[in-house]
Amino acid sequence: MSETLLAFEMVRKEFTRPNGDAPILAIENVSFELRAKEFVSVVGPSGCGKTTLLRMAAGMTKPTAGSLHFAGGAHDGTTGFVFQHASLFPWRTVSENVAYGLELARNRRRTHLAHAEVQRRVGDLLELVGLADFGRFYPPEISGGMQQRCNLARALAIQPDLLLMDEPFSALDAQTREELQLELMRIASELGTTILFITHDIREATFLSDRVIVLSARPSHVLEIVDVPAPRPRAFEYQVSTEFNAIMRHLFELVHEPTAQAV
Ligand SMILES: Nc1ncnc2c1ncn2[C@@H]1O[C@H](COP(=O)(O)OP(=O)(O)O)[C@@H](O)[C@H]1O
Ligand SMILES: [Mg+2]
Repeated sequence: MSETLLAFEMVRKEFTRPNGDAPILAIENVSFELRAKEFVSVVGPSGCGKTTLLRMAAGMTKPTAGSLHFAGGAHDGTTGFVFQHASLFPWRTVSENVAYGLELARNRRRTHLAHAEVQRRVGDLLELVGLADFGRFYPPEISGGMQQRCNLARALAIQPDLLLMDEPFSALDAQTREELQLELMRIASELGTTILFITHDIREATFLSDRVIVLSARPSHVLEIVDVPAPRPRAFEYQVSTEFNAIMRHLFELVHEPTAQAV
């Protein structure tokens, strides 16, 4: 079994409100482990604290109680992000956006990459995400799916130990979403990237993940962690298998059971 990369231990998160309003308890108690090279999804109703979990994994916010443990101690900052909406710089070309990831990595690690090396790596990343012919385009000139491909390339440029993805495909049309699910599956397997992936979509979670963490409604706790045993990468046809459908059905029941709903 692989080493644990990140562990959430009895994490609780409360948000204080201004003007003496009662604080919001977003996350009551969440514990799970993420092992190296795993693809783990988190599903749960809107407002249950999924984005907050990712922000904690990124070190952007701290738990109110409980703790996060990173392999090797402190978080060293090699975390990549892909959000629901592409967050590209519109004044930089696709290549320059991806190069930005490398500039960040260079600044953090205080290493220097020669211009030619940056160009070579950007070229490899664009190839990896299927944007080899679009390096000179600006974000507004490419489709939403291509923007998310570019976002993914930029996040991967820093060679992250952990890639955090917050509903990255939910703003895309169904066909583009399916294409990108397959691409992400291929890329994650090829690079061995550890991924924590948030989604509303239990089909997407089942297809992509080694394990699916099901959260209850706010204040959230883990209802169950469901294994998806089929080896990755998986073919699209896995989605019509008996195993896939049994897992989907189980997840559907968990997500829709009365205790999972907001009251
Ligand atoms: N910075 C914040 N200040 C106050 N409340 C917040 C903040 N961030 C999130 N919340 C609240 O915490 C709960 C969980 O939010 P979020 O993590 O965005 O949920 P999800 O991503 O599952 O939809 C929500 O009720 C939200 O209103
Ligand atoms: Mg969210």
